[in-house]
Amino acid sequence: MSGVVAQIIDGKALAQAIRTELREQAAALQVKGVRPGLSVFLVGDDPASALYVRNKHKACESVGVFSEEQRLPATLSQDELINLVKAANANPKIHGILVQLPLPDHIDKRVILETIAAEKDVDGFHPYNMGGLLEGNPRVVACTPKGVVKMIESTGISIEGKRAVVVGRSQIVGKPAAMLLLERHATVTICHSRTQDLGSRCREADILIVAAGKARMIGADMVKPGAVVIDVGMNLVDKGFVGDVDFESVSEVAGWISPVPGGVGPMTIAMLLENTVEAAARAAK
Ligand code: GUN
Repeated sequence: MSGVVAQIIDGKALAQAIRTELREQAAALQVKGVRPGLSVFLVGDDPASALYVRNKHKACESVGVFSEEQRLPATLSQDELINLVKAANANPKIHGILVQLPLPDHIDKRVILETIAAEKDVDGFHPYNMGGLLEGNPRVVACTPKGVVKMIESTGISIEGKRAVVVGRSQIVGKPAAMLLLERHATVTICHSRTQDLGSRCREADILIVAAGKARMIGADMVKPGAVVIDVGMNLVDKGFVGDVDFESVSEVAGWISPVPGGVGPMTIAMLLENTVEAAARAAK
């Protein structure tokens, strides 16, 4: 027997529902005189980054969040960027600050991320926010892992006590995703490029999150029947974008699977909007 058995986790539809709620929250804040505002910094002219930033801007408009975009030359000095971020920290109209990564080599990412006021850090990358997650006291949570957990929860499957495997140990996705699942009482394994026998580890997973950045690296033979599979990958191949999961074969084995595109991507943007509206709500208090 062959064919799709997995149910699709429709990130696009989930994100749309969240945006509808956020639009109402943003409107309610505006009645109180607070319009949620996001400031995005883009340094250099990486076309992929420019596309992400454009999408973020459009998403903000769609829910009534004010957004300003500062496009800066690749030659900008670290000190100049620090001063611009400090100005955004001090600007009462701005509740969220996002510095698009990657930054040019001459700028130290850590220094910049630590300059962003922790309460305006809508990416959740500031050490104060990362530390809160490790402490079991999440404050601002990074957008992609936050969206991933909402996608798992949307299946109605309980996370508690389950074997969760995260493939990828990045600061942006893998590590925070593992912490969020641990917080929800999963038994969590983090795998990475040096993991031995990755297939065996993945086959143990009731919940499999893949954020490794390698096109279609997870095949059906690496997935436990009935598992929840979340594909964070976004890899440009000749025919367009594909995930880290081989959707065609894995969807015949998994119980639930998120597609690429239309899965994690729209949820990441929805979580950025949510973090911005939440930051504005905190500021309004
Ligand atoms: N570059 C790729 N993903 C992200 C993200 O989530 N936030 C920021 N700031 N830069 C990125």
